[in-house]
Amino acid sequence: IKHLTSMELLSNDEVLGLIKRAQDYKYQRIKPELKRQFFAANLFFESSTRTHKSFEMAEKKLGLEVIEFDAKASSVNKGETLYDTILTMSSIGVDICVIRHTDEHYYQELVDSRTIQTTIVNGGDGSGQHPSQSLLDLMTIYEEFGTFQGLKIMIAGDITHSRVAKSNMQMLKRLGADIYFTGPKSWYSDEFDVYGHYVSLDDMIGQVDVLMLLRVQHERHASGETFSKADYHAQYGLTHARYAAMRADAIIMHPAPVNRGVEIASDLVEAPKSRIAAQMTNGVFMRMAILEAILNGKS
Ligand code: CP
Repeated sequence: IKHLTSMELLSNDEVLGLIKRAQDYKYQRIKPELKRQFFAANLFFESSTRTHKSFEMAEKKLGLEVIEFDAKASSVNKGETLYDTILTMSSIGVDICVIRHTDEHYYQELVDSRTIQTTIVNGGDGSGQHPSQSLLDLMTIYEEFGTFQGLKIMIAGDITHSRVAKSNMQMLKRLGADIYFTGPKSWYSDEFDVYGHYVSLDDMIGQVDVLMLLRVQHERHASGETFSKADYHAQYGLTHARYAAMRADAIIMHPAPVNRGVEIASDLVEAPKSRIAAQMTNGVFMRMAILEAILNGKS
């Protein structure tokens, strides 16, 4: 793996290899073995708690030197471009940059550059892709079921604006899962039909193995768009009645941050079927596996 910008770049074997390696870290079957001292920088131009801090934790557990970067205090505020910011990181010797940015495909000019030597890990590009989230989600599903083949996975909510949904639908279909979509039609596009079927939440809730809830992404909606939290919760949210209708062995996922009482009833966030905290835990080990795979391939 040279750069990790999109799930499309990974083969099924690479995905399964990263899951196995992340499990090795999680269950302390291995210790980090990087071939030299590496330097990492995390550049977040969009808000983040999990991805930013989970990458930082993974970097520190691997023994990387982490170069602090605060977008608000950087020369971006003087008008410096993202390209010139990453050119600077590369020129001062940063080996790997984890970047979150509002622009879809922001990474293309960086990975196409002949001068920039630093490796790019996409921590989320607008509504595009979120590969490390997808990989930790896949790990969480695999830990539960030991396979993807034939699993019924329902992705629910703000699908159009969700980079998590886009990363997951592609890879889960390729790995053999059956994908169902539900949520407001206005946040759904026919382009997703190649990956799964749009269904009624209440018709399907009792059949799925995995219910993957998505955050309502107000920051990506047109200003003035009306939204009722109570209406959304009643129509598309995980209520207590829907929770009770789920299969005994089904699990609930959500990439978080959660809008409590909107996508999911607040007291179901930590309910027995919920794997929301497990996803966050797995994120550290998956990011260790990602960073290690990339860095040990570098000279
Ligand atoms: N799941 C996720 O990307 O969370 P953050 O926005 O807090 O990083």
